[in-house]
Amino acid sequence: MDRIAITGGARLNGSIPISGAKNSAIKLMAASLLTDEPLRLTNMPRLADTRFLGKLLTRLGVSVTESDGPDGQQTILHAPEITSGFAPYDLVRQMRASFNVLGPLVARSGQAKVSLPGGCTIGARPVDLHLQALEALGAKIDLHEGYVYAQAPRGLKGAEITFPFVSVGATEHAMLAAVLADGTTVIHNAACEPELVDLQECLNAMGAKVQGAGTPTVTITGVPRLKGASHAVIPDRIEMGTYAVAAAMAGGEVRLTNARPGLIDALLEKLKEAGAGVEETADGCIIRRNGERLNAVDIETAPFPGFATDLQAQFMALMTTANGESRIRETIFENRFMHAPELMRLGADISVSGGEARVRGVAQLEGAEVMATDLRASVSLVIAGLVARGETTVSRIYHLDRGFERLEEKLGACGAQVRRIVGDGEPEL
Ligand code: EPU
Repeated sequence: MDRIAITGGARLNGSIPISGAKNSAIKLMAASLLTDEPLRLTNMPRLADTRFLGKLLTRLGVSVTESDGPDGQQTILHAPEITSGFAPYDLVRQMRASFNVLGPLVARSGQAKVSLPGGCTIGARPVDLHLQALEALGAKIDLHEGYVYAQAPRGLKGAEITFPFVSVGATEHAMLAAVLADGTTVIHNAACEPELVDLQECLNAMGAKVQGAGTPTVTITGVPRLKGASHAVIPDRIEMGTYAVAAAMAGGEVRLTNARPGLIDALLEKLKEAGAGVEETADGCIIRRNGERLNAVDIETAPFPGFATDLQAQFMALMTTANGESRIRETIFENRFMHAPELMRLGADISVSGGEARVRGVAQLEGAEVMATDLRASVSLVIAGLVARGETTVSRIYHLDRGFERLEEKLGACGAQVRRIVGDGEPEL
């Protein structure tokens, strides 16, 4: 298996273009199941997760063609007909968001059999709200032997859906199913993440009638059929935030481009509070730090527009060398501190109790061998490695490859000493 080696100490200077958002791209790809015409997605990131989903969609009858189009990386997805409504465990297990094919399959062809995704290292991550939404839309749901069987032979029906708490995936799933339902659906307590707005824009370009995404109430007026469309994937706010933290950690001056203002305000506020220089630009931001040690600040994760849970590990890495003690509260997932013991291998001083971590800043981290446990945890180790004395080697980087496009190249272009060590093909224990 491949590893990433980082030699700490280099400051970062340069510019990093932000890719299209993984967490939007994979929901937009699922939308291709809703129409017999081609859906062209531009600003597409090339990631392990988009490849996994492409593989599953191909089995369901979608042709998936990746190419370099007139406006950069594009994927054209075309499902003239659904040839199978079956999503097997093997594929759903590899990428849990594959579960979101269930709604579009039932909406278009009246039935589907999709594996339950199972747990994940950051938490149990049940799908009860997804199923609640589909049942509200009139699907008959049965669970057998790890699979969800959903049927709506006469089509889905518009409904009022009230989520007991905010779920990004369940809100997206309800939208993907309701666009072809008969009548109007209103989703209350919807997630407000920017990826929902992106999904709304893409669905509307396909002829759907969705409004309110980005607010807690989303209204969908069902239409009998959708058509093809072309849509540019929103910039990846988590990638943007990750490189913002990397720049604040390593020092120097980094310009993040190809993004949008307003996507990571909660993080930028915290970076300013910690003492980093932050300048917002028309297509991203500039992050500066000139040698001064940062101050410890507290964070608490929350749904958008709060501090994103997907940036918590990176921020914890930043706080390991800040001046003072920082309290980090994780409120979205119950087990999202797996990076803490790995950061401690680099010399960080962290104690975790329940949903709270206390990070006491140390003057210097030391390079060591560490192991990635999930996508965002793995990049937090790379960030820590940027300032650790000597060499840090991160193993199990298949997690990293799920969500960060050309990471070594992007950081390397700014002067970071980061290289991939290609493995011998042996699986890692
Ligand atoms: N939840 C339930 N039941 C459900 C759905 C969710 O109990 O039916 C719980 C979850 O277990 C969690 C909370 O609700 O405790 C919020 O989960 P949510 O559904 O909002 O998360 P998700 O849709 O599974 C997406 C991103 C995550 C990101 C979260 C929160 C994708 C593919 N994943 O997950 O991204 O952390 O929203 O913003 O969009 C990542 O990219 O590394 C990642 C984990």
